[in-house]
Parts: sequence; structure tokens; C-alpha cells
Amino acid sequence: MRRPLVAGNWKMNGTRASVAELTESLRMQDMPTSVEVVVFPCALHVMQVVDGLNGAAIDVGAQDCAADVGFGAFTGEESATQLLDSGCEWVLVGHSERRLIFGESDDVVSKKFVSALECGLTPVLCVGETLEQRQAGKTVEVVARQLAHVLAQAGVQAFGRAVVAYEPVWAIGSGLTASPQQAQEVHAAIRAQLASEDQRIADGIRLLYGGSVKAENAAELFGMADIDGGLIGGASLKANDFGAICRAA
Ligand code: G3H
Repeated sequence: MRRPLVAGNWKMNGTRASVAELTESLRMQDMPTSVEVVVFPCALHVMQVVDGLNGAAIDVGAQDCAADVGFGAFTGEESATQLLDSGCEWVLVGHSERRLIFGESDDVVSKKFVSALECGLTPVLCVGETLEQRQAGKTVEVVARQLAHVLAQAGVQAFGRAVVAYEPVWAIGSGLTASPQQAQEVHAAIRAQLASEDQRIADGIRLLYGGSVKAENAAELFGMADIDGGLIGGASLKANDFGAICRAA
């Protein structure tokens, strides 16, 4: 049995004051113990949130990490080493906003994935197609290529300590959610691709769906055979909504 996982990506949102409020409201939520919960504040707020959630069963992660581990002359970057030192246990890798707005290649994403694991962080590898790619019937091909790149660099065993999030770009922040069937089809393809290299890894890995998940559609999505939870953007900024999504998992 795979333990459901619900992750909240706060993206570039919040001030110290609003983050303190959100953190406090999250502590008040009735989170099911059967579900693993993690939030991803911006790097500036990580330590504040780690302190604020001390004692609560909610982990903290970062939204990105440097491709290189350790320390060095990489202005503006945070390494997985530093994130771990700040109390992170998780990191998002290859979110579509990093790929599309900041030009991150599959190669860079793969390096970040490997660096995160090397430092002891759990990477959440994000994959997903654009609307154009979906309309061209290339969804599974695009996602398979993104996954294959990381598989080639990291090896399938690395996925025993990782999570994959399928996020169709057209569903992110748009209010358009993939139907449970559309999401399930891609999740099944991801699991099959991993199974072609190692059945045990494929059976054990958590695959998250992301893209306009709300309290109202979460249960149906999470009820699909290969959907093990969600990566939540907008709705994770409201503690009550996020709590309801966690309870739906
Ligand atoms: O990382 C989260 C995703 O980008 C989903 O964002 O729930 O606002 O659509 P959203």
C-alpha cells in the first residue's frame, strides 16, 4: 500500500506575516494521520515555516535547488546541502514554471534530482505536457521523455526514494483540471515506464497529480488507481482548503 501524499506549493507568495498566519492555521487543521503532508514555501520562508510547524506532522520542502551540491560561487542559488541544513526534507525538481519560464533543460533537472538525493532530500520530480503538446496527441510521449532523461542520469533505484508529480501545464492555475481519466492514463503510463525497469520501484513510488486541484475535485482524482495524492498550488494558500484536500486523500 502506498501512503497518500499531499504537497502544497506556495510558489512566490507570502510575507513573513502572512506565512506566520498560514502556518498557524495549518497547525489547527485536522490532518489525517494516514496521509503524509508537506508544504513548499519560498526559500526565504523555509526556516520560519520549519520553526512554525515544529511538532506538527507536516514536513517542509523547497521549491528548487541548485544543480551542484555543497557550497560555491553560484550567486542566487541554494544547494540541497543548504536546504537540508535549513530543515528541509523535500525539494521540488523540474516544476513546469522552472522549465518554461527559467529555461531549465532535462539535463539540469536531472542534475538537481541527483543532487537532492545525494544530500538526503526527497525530490518530487515534476513532469507534464503543454496544451499544444496535448492537442498534438503527444502527452504520453512528452512525459515519457522527461522521465527517461532523469532515469538515464539517476538510475531506476533512485526512484525508490523519490516522488513523481504529473502536472499538465494547461491545468496549472487555470481552473481547468485534467479529468480523473485523463490524469489516470498518464499516471498509469509513468508507472508502466518505471515498471519496465523495476517492478518493485514502480509499485512503491507515489505519483501525484497537480493542476487546479480543489477540495471539490480532490477525492475523485485521488480515487484513481495510480494517483497517490496531489501537488497543490493555489488551494494550498488557504489552510481550510488545503486541509480539506488532505482529508480527501
Ligand atoms: O505546484 C503546483 C501546481 O503548479 C498546481 O498549481 O493548483 O494552482 O493549479 P495550481
